[in-house]
Amino acid sequence: MNNVVMEIKNISKSFPGVKALNNVSMTLKKGEIHALIGENGAGKSTLMNIIFGMFSPEDGKIYLSNKEVKIDNPLTAQTLGIGIVPQELNLVPFLSTTENILLGMEPCKIEKYILDWKKMRGRAEGILDKIGEKIELNIPVKDLSVAQQQIVQIARALAFDAKILILDEPTASLTIKETEMLFNIIDNFTSNGGSIFYISHRLEEILEIADRITVLRDGNKVKELNPHNTTKDEMVKYMVGRDVKTMKTEKCFDYENKERVLEVDNLSRKNEFNNISFKLYKGEILGIAGLVGAGRTELVSCIFGVTKPQDGEVRINGKRVDHNHTWEGIKNGIGYVPEERRELALFPILNIAENMTMPVINNFTNKGIINKVKEISVVEDYINKMRIKTPSYKQLIRNLSGGNQQKVILSRWMMAESKILILDEPTRGIDVNAKGEIYQLLHRLTEEGISIIFISSEIQEVIDVADRVLIMHEGLVKGEVESNKTSQEEIMSIALS
Ligand SMILES: Nc1ncnc2c1ncn2[C@@H]1O[C@H](COP(=O)(O)OP(=O)(O)OP(=O)(O)O)[C@@H](O)[C@H]1O
Ligand SMILES: [Mg+2]
Repeated sequence: MNNVVMEIKNISKSFPGVKALNNVSMTLKKGEIHALIGENGAGKSTLMNIIFGMFSPEDGKIYLSNKEVKIDNPLTAQTLGIGIVPQELNLVPFLSTTENILLGMEPCKIEKYILDWKKMRGRAEGILDKIGEKIELNIPVKDLSVAQQQIVQIARALAFDAKILILDEPTASLTIKETEMLFNIIDNFTSNGGSIFYISHRLEEILEIADRITVLRDGNKVKELNPHNTTKDEMVKYMVGRDVKTMKTEKCFDYENKERVLEVDNLSRKNEFNNISFKLYKGEILGIAGLVGAGRTELVSCIFGVTKPQDGEVRINGKRVDHNHTWEGIKNGIGYVPEERRELALFPILNIAENMTMPVINNFTNKGIINKVKEISVVEDYINKMRIKTPSYKQLIRNLSGGNQQKVILSRWMMAESKILILDEPTRGIDVNAKGEIYQLLHRLTEEGISIIFISSEIQEVIDVADRVLIMHEGLVKGEVESNKTSQEEIMSIALS
């Protein structure tokens, strides 16, 4: 037992209407990567937030090096050597890299009254050096890429000299190369005696890096697995509680009788994307593949009306549209699920119903008065249909697990009867089972004549889901392939050609 650095004993936690954790016990050993898996809403983040002092458990104990500790708040957790990279990054956008890394522990001169900037930069640089990354120290973190922001978040955890690091879905928005970089950081950390709790829905990567796997289901610990003698199927079986067949949808898009729904001609925005042309057909799923920085998000947010193009045009059903605002995009039948869920898609302090009906509230009003009965019955319909895990439509959306939040956002656009759905990384943070449900849902939507633009950094996912794949790189369209005649390798080589 000597090498156990942390022990969690019989932890339970309830939220109104939800038993998030039920009597969960686990250990973490020195130098170990202990992976935590489970479906959306299984309780993974709740458990980690308890260890980090964000929530207090209603029952159970935590021991560090065999000594019981009370972790009442994050500051205590940090002093005890626990660091976290939360599921949703929580950096201060307008503060610099340096300020974010050292937030709350800034070195001062003259009796704590004046920040010692020289020391601050030196310290921040030292931590980044230790991680092995170079990031601009003086620019606001909002101008960094997601991967870089993630590194700043790790640097912040390490600034406190953490011995235990919690990584809650750290790779969800990273590319293959960035993920490798993260694994190097992790490797470095554990070989120096650090220990890690690691949450991810990417089961392959768990098999690759974990030393031990704990499966949570509905707040219960159901199984501990050894990554060296388990399989992805077995992991999923314990996560879901039954055998799951991964269903592949047959692709049979009929390009003979195609009907153009969206046409984009020579669309350009300086420093974002250049001379982009493509067509989207009725009932088709068009994938857009590319590395981070390819300009995919910039392109689709321009089509939706977040930004204006500097050149080129967009036509919907043959008619030119100039979207100056997002509501014009919505009016013309576009629904948009953005990549940055928390920042751009959610109204955190509103409940599920309000979040869902936001763009279509007019459908439920009569002379300015909302017909709540009608609204709620439609919302409840979607909660059932999309299998959103919640005690009630009244739950604040910020209290839902990440995957369930995404289902609410998807429901929003289905309710809005969007004819063109733009989905930017829609399965990020979604568990395998729910992913399968979403793929099938998209397929059903196309059968109803809805057209979908599907962006994902997981190339295999784009190939599996889309009928046709547009390949972008550094703001340009580099090629187009039919998905049943291509491979990951071909797409990568076209992107980089
Ligand atoms: N602050 C809160 N108030 C109410 N309910 C909450 C709160 N936080 C979490 N829950 C509920 O607790 C359960 C567990 O949520 P948790 O976020 O731990 O899941 P998760 O395993 O991390 O899922 P995901 O893979 O989607 O991130 C869910 O049903 C969630 O809705
Ligand atoms: Mg979570």
